Amino acid sequence: MITKSSRLSSQSGSIDSFLSETRRFSASEAFKTASEVEGDVYERASEDFLGFWEAQARKLTWERPWTDVLTWERPYAKWFEGGQLNASVNCLDVHLEGERKNKVAILWEGEEGDVQSLTFHELHEKVNRLAFVLKHKLQVQRGDRVTIYLPLIPEAVISMLACARIGAIHSVVFAGFSAQSLKDRILDSGSKVMITAEGGYRRGKVVPLKSIVNQAVASGDTPMESILWVSHVGLSIEEPSENNESKVMNYDYTSLTESAPTYIEPEVMNSEDPLFILYTSGTTGKPKGIVHTTGGYLTHAKYSTRVVFDTRDDDVYWCTADVGWITGHTYLVYGPLSNGVTCFMYEGTPDYPQKDRFWQLIERHGVTIFYSAPTAIRCFMKWGDDLLKGYDLSTLRLLGSVGEPINPDVWVWYHRVVGGGRCPVVDTWWQTETGGIMIANIPALNDMKPGYSGLPLPGIEAKILTEGGEEVTEGGGYLSLTRPWPSMLRGVWGDSQRYESVYWDTFETYFSGDGAKKDADGYFMVMGRVDDVLNCAGHRIGTMEVESALVACEDVAEAAVVGMPDEIKGEAIVAFVVLEDGVVDSDQMMFQLIQAVSDQIGPIAKPKRIVFTPDLPKTRSGKIMRRILRALVEDRPVGDLTTLANPQIVTFLEEKV
Ligand code: WT7
Repeated sequence: MITKSSRLSSQSGSIDSFLSETRRFSASEAFKTASEVEGDVYERASEDFLGFWEAQARKLTWERPWTDVLTWERPYAKWFEGGQLNASVNCLDVHLEGERKNKVAILWEGEEGDVQSLTFHELHEKVNRLAFVLKHKLQVQRGDRVTIYLPLIPEAVISMLACARIGAIHSVVFAGFSAQSLKDRILDSGSKVMITAEGGYRRGKVVPLKSIVNQAVASGDTPMESILWVSHVGLSIEEPSENNESKVMNYDYTSLTESAPTYIEPEVMNSEDPLFILYTSGTTGKPKGIVHTTGGYLTHAKYSTRVVFDTRDDDVYWCTADVGWITGHTYLVYGPLSNGVTCFMYEGTPDYPQKDRFWQLIERHGVTIFYSAPTAIRCFMKWGDDLLKGYDLSTLRLLGSVGEPINPDVWVWYHRVVGGGRCPVVDTWWQTETGGIMIANIPALNDMKPGYSGLPLPGIEAKILTEGGEEVTEGGGYLSLTRPWPSMLRGVWGDSQRYESVYWDTFETYFSGDGAKKDADGYFMVMGRVDDVLNCAGHRIGTMEVESALVACEDVAEAAVVGMPDEIKGEAIVAFVVLEDGVVDSDQMMFQLIQAVSDQIGPIAKPKRIVFTPDLPKTRSGKIMRRILRALVEDRPVGDLTTLANPQIVTFLEEKV
């Protein structure tokens, strides 16, 4: 039950909190007993912070041990300096000696229903062949950047690991990005080589990736020299036309790799050598190339996967993210593979050919761990429970969520309907910049509260701060990570000034840009981006709470709230509401929703207006873009829409608002 509560925080410059959640869930005794997570991890980490991280790093295979655990010169961290290792060795070679050699590493299903599986041994061979081609045929050197623009097919994972093997820095660009976005990222990273496919499937249609790539490099003003293309959908490749300015060479992935040797010596990398760049656009501005390095990143990827997902040798683990996002890097590739876990990958969307595709996949492949995002979970909820009923989901034993706050009622639905009431749900808070999960419950050890991500992981320290940087011990404010951690970003590619100003100018410690609250048990609830915080009659309210009150109403599938200038209150709340499939809106429903928010949170959070809409503007990774909604209600131009996945909804809302 969500009950009304008074302001939890009275410290100035903090964020007020209104929702109080009293539901508690815990993993079953059987789950706890079977877990391999040590019961004293929290104690060990707090007793000896550096010693704890060294113990995690020792679980990797190093060519040479480190001499210094951490060198911290704010805001620059170096972890495990002096140490040398290779990331592909840690994901592949280390599993080849024993029983895991012939264990499935990647189990893949295409949109068309074709299935492929690769054992660790087979994946190793493919990675080595490609690494050989990159190094000896395309002359990729250690430290060079390679752009990867691929659909979610095994070659995406192979490409990342092949780069890691030869010490090249990969820059994966999500294959839904336009030619211009791709070009911006090629220019910024200075990539000379690209790996792509001729096409990818999207809801039964073919997306001509290679022609998008051709457009991106056509003008000849990018450093691109060679393009290796995978044949995936059977499109023929156009040779660049005569008036094409680019001098780019095209190579066929299959024919080059087929004849390459199956082993190449891994490059011995320094712990602090960059492993990859990943661009994050945020909601505004030029994309930032977030840089992650090798030793610290891999240490946290391996450790956090093990403790949060409680992985075991017989798991079939499915992270639904694309490799184009950080979740796909850490929890589809580096985390699970370094732990020797079988990863399931699916190329397509959840609604193709029908809205039950995911449940079908879980049943068919015996998925045990399912990690997805609130935007998808809210869709499943909207589509209705009936879609799941015909499927055997009993193999599932753990569920996860990432990307946005998960509204308590959505959490409870996920737990009850998808998890059959028996699977713990881990709500994992982190960012592209943090490299891996920072706040989440360890399901074998902690109780869960819907809407709360829970405790910072052992080895991670997080605090809630006021605007002035004072710690809020209980209540709302700004979320800051207050100690360096191994997988922290090492900077913004080519722009140290931006790194310093975005993350380190606000507080003494790392500023996440998120508002959050902490309860008496030390559990964190992330309430949304601070840029989105509402200011009503002097109260600062996170968007998540008002949205959760709306989503808690029976017929509401999704909601986004924004502030609109108001003479009396400073800001009045406008709520954009998506109803469940088949429900028709009415004035009566509008009044009910306004009343429901007032009952659950208090009259100050009462929306002034409710706008019913079939959809909300979202980024390509599924985050609600409240900036656009704000512009609409303030009657301002909506600005740059290039990061938007569904621009048609803006046209609809422009008419309606
Ligand atoms: C932002 C980071 C982390 C991988 C995917 C997104 C929001 C992420 C949660 C969560 C509430 C969350 C935050 C964060 N966010 N996870 N569990 N609860 N909010 O990576 O694109 O870098 O986005 O996503 O606002 O700052 P990203």
